[in-house]
Amino acid sequence: MNDLRIGVIGLALRGSLGRRGPPSRRGLRVVAVAELDKALRERAEERFGARAYEDCRLMLGEVDAVLVLTPDDTHADLACEILRAGVPVFVEKPLDITLERCDAILRAARESGTRLHVGHNMRHMPVVRLMREIIQRGDIGRVRTVWVRHFVGHGGDFSFKDRHAEREHAGGLLLQKAAHDLDVVH
Ligand SMILES: NC(=O)c1ccc[n+]([C@@H]2O[C@H](COP(=O)([O-])OP(=O)(O)OC[C@H]3O[C@@H](n4cnc5c(N)ncnc54)[C@H](O)[C@@H]3O)[C@@H](O)[C@H]2O)c1
Repeated sequence: MNDLRIGVIGLALRGSLGRRGPPSRRGLRVVAVAELDKALRERAEERFGARAYEDCRLMLGEVDAVLVLTPDDTHADLACEILRAGVPVFVEKPLDITLERCDAILRAARESGTRLHVGHNMRHMPVVRLMREIIQRGDIGRVRTVWVRHFVGHGGDFSFKDRHAEREHAGGLLLQKAAHDLDVVH
């Protein structure tokens, strides 16, 4: 079977995820990347061995699926356009920063009949899988309540001193950080 040809949009912090692909899946190859930053784009060929574009629309003809790894408030615009082109999309969590924009993505997926995945990668972490096994074995009886403590690293720099602190760019801590916790609790 041929490798699935993957396009990656957004190469900064999440670029490493694009390089490796979902860890449990073989048969993936990053063939195209899109990035607004010129320096990152220039390094892309060396890092990924893939063609690099400034405009992500130019990659759509050469990929089987796209990973959207850009800031939260850009997801809906990118994902809707790609889904409507009939290309499956993996969107980093959270889907976007408002209900309206999240709904727009769901609508584009449904109306185009195109597959959409949301980046709830934390549910695959060994610690979470073990927790699930313990519960399923009945070791601790019926779970009646779940207590979540989420530590934000670097004295909160990640979430309070960058774009995540601005309403224009983020949906607040509950959506940005606790998206994982809510998924794990489910
Ligand atoms: N699942 C997780 O565990 C996890 C962890 C951290 C971040 N995230 C999510 O990953 C996403 C990216 O976060 P980040 O911290 O890597 O952001 P970042 O700002 O470090 O990187 C985003 C990159 O996207 C590029 N970009 C923006 N718009 C673009 C466009 N239209 N076309 C091409 N490139 C574009 C920017 O130039 C930048 O290089 C966010 O949605 C964030 O919430 C998820």
